[in-house]
Amino acid sequence: MPSAVVAITGASGARYGVRLVEQLSLAGWEIDLIVSKAGEINLKLECDIGAAELSEITGVSIHNNANLAAKPASGSALYDAYVICPASGTTIGKIGAGISDNLSTRSALVAIKERRKLIIVPRETPSPTPHLEAMAKMSSWGVVILPANPGFYNSPETIDDLIDFVVARILDQMGVSHSLGKRWTGEEVTLGQ
Ligand SMILES: Cc1cc2nc3c(=O)[nH]c(=O)nc-3n(C[C@H](O)[C@H](O)[C@H](O)COP(=O)(O)O)c2cc1C
Repeated sequence: MPSAVVAITGASGARYGVRLVEQLSLAGWEIDLIVSKAGEINLKLECDIGAAELSEITGVSIHNNANLAAKPASGSALYDAYVICPASGTTIGKIGAGISDNLSTRSALVAIKERRKLIIVPRETPSPTPHLEAMAKMSSWGVVILPANPGFYNSPETIDDLIDFVVARILDQMGVSHSLGKRWTGEEVTLGQ
């Protein structure tokens, strides 16, 4: 069964993380989920749920962000992908500096040292220069920086459409087949020749 580490950290956009976990569960993935303290605040504020409710989703095992002895902290534990969604600027800055002081940052550094797929979904605007520099560095290490920037070319009608746009891009990066949103066909726009 494919497996992923998903960390929901303290940036706005907890709904992206929840939708991602739901979709991975539907696709039959095992998910080792980490929710930081600030992530919990945003989960409550934006989704009106706690991390405990996410642990009831099929395939989800929840880990305490302070537990550096948990399974995702070791490179010997194999995962197909690691995703931080949403990723706070603080978590991004730490990873870029090689700091692994909690399970979210440690699992990201494990992905980097083991050369595994790591997807980081930042949500902060405008972006502070230290976070931009950290993201540029991480990108050069092979980390996928996938900002929570939904496109509007598919004429979204609901907030769920906007969330699905971003989650679809994450699932594409993970190689998970899904039916979220429409794919561009090239026939949407006709230009005069
Ligand atoms: C309600 C709330 C919303 C926040 N939104 C953001 C945000 O959108 N982006 C961001 O980078 N930080 C945001 N922060 C700040 C982070 O939560 C803070 O830097 C925290 O230390 C991140 O820790 P963590 O990455 O371990 O969760 C927010 C904090 C709170 C309480």
